[in-house]
Amino acid sequence: MAEVEKAEELYEGKAKKVFTTSDPELLIVSYKDDATAGDGEKKGTIVGKGAINNRMTNYLMQVLEQAGIPTDYVEELNDRETVVKKVTIFPLEVIVRNISAGHFASNFGVEEGIVFDQPTFEYSLKNDDLHDPLINDSHIVALKLAKQEDLDRIRELTLKVNDILKEFFAKLNVTLVDFKLEFGRTSDGTIILADEISPDTARFWDATTGEKLDKDRFRRDMGGVEDAYNEMMHRVFGDNA
Ligand code: C5P
Repeated sequence: MAEVEKAEELYEGKAKKVFTTSDPELLIVSYKDDATAGDGEKKGTIVGKGAINNRMTNYLMQVLEQAGIPTDYVEELNDRETVVKKVTIFPLEVIVRNISAGHFASNFGVEEGIVFDQPTFEYSLKNDDLHDPLINDSHIVALKLAKQEDLDRIRELTLKVNDILKEFFAKLNVTLVDFKLEFGRTSDGTIILADEISPDTARFWDATTGEKLDKDRFRRDMGGVEDAYNEMMHRVFGDNA
């Protein structure tokens, strides 16, 4: 493809910077090593995280594309930077859970590790000031954040992503506990998967030992954070990690 030049910084988020480019339909994302938790109250650095999340996201996006999921992935530029399609993001965190953990356990007063008969599906409103509250379809439609037909499409794509990723990680002896997705709309109106899929945004447990291989090690001050990210990188890329 023609060379895409970085233009201006559009936005700096907690884990990524986003730049406009010479092409109005494309952006460049740059992954940082910065880590936050608890609505940004806890801050730190996970050395090497930016490069790991960049490469892992891009790989998984390509796996998903091949399985028929439209994504924003265009081209990996280097360790940390990737060209993606420009989308208008729905301000929603789309969360699927296969096993109880995190806020499911704390919100509903159950232990972690309950294996569900079928995945749960939920939305949170992306709003740090409101602490990303749970929100349902009728609330989203009432707030005009998306139409019901958009939500139906997002749900269909998300459950398909869960099936594909569960199988993908199972082959690496990793249990996909839960994850968060974000969707956006391209200028032609198509809904596509955007943002990242990484140990920042998914819970990964070693399928044999149950060891946590994700950002919970940072959130919960468990130590071994970098080791966990590196281990996931090795599981996905083997000797090419
Ligand atoms: O915290 P909670 O249990 O709701 O998180 C569910 C899943 O969504 C986890 O995999 C977590 O990493 C991800 N998540 C995220 N960004 C958030 C909240 C949750 O990636 N702001």
